[in-house]
Amino acid sequence: MTVDVYLTPTELDATLRAEALRGLTASPKYLSPTLLYDERGSELFERITELPEYYPTRTEFALLCENAGEIADTTATEVLVELGSGSSEKTRVLLDALAPTLRTYVPQDVSEAALRPAVRRLTAEYPEVEVHGVVGDFTASLAHLPAGGHRTIAFLGGTIGNFAPTERAEFLTGLAAILEPGEWLLLGAGLVVDPSVLVPAYDDAAGVTAEFDRNVLRVLNDRFGADFDPDLFVHRAVWDADNEWIEMRLEATRAMTVHVPGLGIDVDFAEGEQMRTEISAKFRLDRLAAELDAAGFTVRREWVDADARFVVIAACRRR
Ligand code: AVJ
Repeated sequence: MTVDVYLTPTELDATLRAEALRGLTASPKYLSPTLLYDERGSELFERITELPEYYPTRTEFALLCENAGEIADTTATEVLVELGSGSSEKTRVLLDALAPTLRTYVPQDVSEAALRPAVRRLTAEYPEVEVHGVVGDFTASLAHLPAGGHRTIAFLGGTIGNFAPTERAEFLTGLAAILEPGEWLLLGAGLVVDPSVLVPAYDDAAGVTAEFDRNVLRVLNDRFGADFDPDLFVHRAVWDADNEWIEMRLEATRAMTVHVPGLGIDVDFAEGEQMRTEISAKFRLDRLAAELDAAGFTVRREWVDADARFVVIAACRRR
């Protein structure tokens, strides 16, 4: 087993610092979703995936379970690269199905803490597969990806929705640039559904998503010595019908000045001011296929659940 670190804690800190500074001084204010995932944030996200209202994770998992054989037949993957693999728990079903052809599994994550134990476990469980962990952001890990050998890049969970449209186009073009013609992208994406289903998924009755959202303020307190009081912010989930994405926002319940010594700034909030902490875009099949096409992929297979809430796509890099 190997774990290569392309993103040291210092580099990650510098990236997060630059992003936090940009977002907190912008108007309107926003924060990068990357800031949501410290250790506590990752635990809270795991709890979200078990909530009755949060359907994406279990819907995608069911699609992977039901169609793993077809995914394996379609892609004949020898090298599986998984972006944002986290604990790699859902990936086992793919690893099992791909077993006849799979030689190498490359899980990538920004969190070394999540990655190392996963790599250790998988190495023990899949002795025939070379497990090669990569700590880094998406781009770093792709830049270091060895060429050749029927590769598939898996980008699951609907995380593609966290990019703004321009970033998404750049990201997909970047993936296509790395892959050889005939290699595959396995993409999981949330579909546009009725707001009565979507909004509760991002604002659950038990308040776990609210806690996940507010946790970003604790991350700012820990990293940059800020004095945010998370109790003075409420979580909002807002469906933007024009952009077809849901936004998580934190709303200040009163006017306040927050000191962020680590960034050298003081930040004023007005009562009722909202700060965006995440967008999670939802897709329509035809438009997503068109975006993939524009990036250099041809959609070969689409697996959609019976309620049409989520899609897993196998897209082939075109020549
Ligand atoms: C893991 C980024 C796909 O956008 O649905 C869950 C994160 N945010 N609840 C998503 C999330 C609020 C999730 N992703």
